[in-house]
Amino acid sequence: MTATTATLQTLHVDDVHHVVPTVQGDLTLLHGASFTIAAGETAAIMGRSGSGKTTLLSIVGLMLRATRGEVVIAGQPTSRLSDAERARLRNQTLGFVFQGYSLVPHLTAAENVALPLSYGPAVSSAERRAAAQLLEMVGLGHAARRYPRHLSGGEQQRVAIARALVRSPGLLLADEPTGALDVATGEAVLDLLLDVARARGTSVLVVTHDEAVAARTGRRLLIVEGRLSEDQAACAP
Ligand SMILES: Nc1ncnc2c1ncn2[C@@H]1O[C@H](COP(=O)(O)OP(=O)(O)OP(=O)(O)O)[C@@H](O)[C@H]1O
Ligand SMILES: [Mg+2]
Repeated sequence: MTATTATLQTLHVDDVHHVVPTVQGDLTLLHGASFTIAAGETAAIMGRSGSGKTTLLSIVGLMLRATRGEVVIAGQPTSRLSDAERARLRNQTLGFVFQGYSLVPHLTAAENVALPLSYGPAVSSAERRAAAQLLEMVGLGHAARRYPRHLSGGEQQRVAIARALVRSPGLLLADEPTGALDVATGEAVLDLLLDVARARGTSVLVVTHDEAVAARTGRRLLIVEGRLSEDQAACAP
């Protein structure tokens, strides 16, 4: 296992509302979402297209400010922080995996994984080793020098997972990370994501349409037209 592990931390989302102005008047996208993800916990967010999943994840990821309510990450309430403070907290505590692999095409797999390290303070040799180790953990140690165009979709998404974990975030946010993959590859990639995250003590919040993917997490949260609830039926034995 890698020497670097995530700092355990909790996510609290408290009564988050999100309202956007439209030509027809204000539109409420989230109606008071509240939940807690404990340190090391994995949870799925499910709901139909347009129900507000990406909006919620963007607010938790500090990319979008809620109209009302609070997001507390690692004990830090975030609503009153400046944009710069939010960016710092995001870089220190959160990792992201999106549907499109968003790898940088002219960088190798290894360079893509190490990329977030270069945004922070000087990269240590321990961090470089951790990056190489992560690529091994996602089964792509042999492909370190390959460019994204020479990797399959599933392989590219595994590189993106390694990159999301390279700064040892306490919380990994994934928005339909397997949506562009075939079912079998998607499930394998998600298993890997959950295994690597669990091994490092990283909490995971994953948006998915896929029941099988959700079943691999510890919990399901359901959004219906901007209203969030715990999916109790799914939790029943
Ligand atoms: N800035 C905005 N202005 C107006 N409407 C918006 C804005 N952002 C999102 N929406 C609308 O809010 C709703 C929720 O969007 P969101 O992207 O969160 O849905 P989603 O659950 O992620 O859907 P999908 O499964 O298709 O990705 C959608 O109807 C979307 O069109
Ligand atoms: Mg979405």
